[in-house]
Amino acid sequence: MNIQKQQHKNENIFDIVSPVYDQGIIGKWLFSVIKKTVNEVKIKHNAKILDAGTGTGNLFLILEKNKTLDLYGIDISKKMLNQAKKKIPHGQFIQLSVLDLDKKFKENYFDYIFVIDAFHHFPEHKKVMKRFRAVLKYKGTLIITELDFGKVFNYLFHVLEPGNNWIYTKKAMKNIFKESGFAIKKQKNIGIFSYVTIGLKGGVSNN
Ligand SMILES: C[S@@+](CC[C@H](N)C(=O)[O-])C[C@H]1O[C@@H](n2cnc3c(N)ncnc32)[C@H](O)[C@@H]1O
Repeated sequence: MNIQKQQHKNENIFDIVSPVYDQGIIGKWLFSVIKKTVNEVKIKHNAKILDAGTGTGNLFLILEKNKTLDLYGIDISKKMLNQAKKKIPHGQFIQLSVLDLDKKFKENYFDYIFVIDAFHHFPEHKKVMKRFRAVLKYKGTLIITELDFGKVFNYLFHVLEPGNNWIYTKKAMKNIFKESGFAIKKQKNIGIFSYVTIGLKGGVSNN
């Protein structure tokens, strides 16, 4: 599918699901994945943080308790962002594709970039990683939380879930980090099917 079509598809799907995204068992489960992701990162005071594919802004519900942090959320779906703005009125939420990060933000701007359950919706992962690398500061941290059901079920999920680009195994994600110039600090399971990969711009891989 071409890039514009895929982005439009995601915009439409998430605009439609936005009123119910946080609800029910799935909503609770998604929130628990965010909490577990945050527990894996020691965040410095006064940091600039980007949440790429922020959705309804749940990451910032947790992070906003630290008043020193500068929080930016981007998403392609305006209606997901509207939900986020209702929860965190002072949040800086911008309707933007990850592929256009360079149009909005200066190079070496962020200390941390979080991507939670969104990377598999992004087209062109190599370009996306390039954009992340550009807007992260040297020694800045990239945190990507994703799903891995194993190769066969990943493929099934890819076929069934609307709007996804691909479901990456843990091994594939490690390679994506390394090929994009990130040193891997940690990769860890944080639930039955969720795992987080944490990398640094610059430095040496531990994994
Ligand atoms: C499954 S939701 C995850 C939301 C949030 N990170 C969370 O954990 O609750 C995926 C989000 O990625 C967004 N998204 C999809 N493609 C995108 C793109 N190209 N650029 C920015 N956001 C995108 C969707 O609109 C959606 O809000």
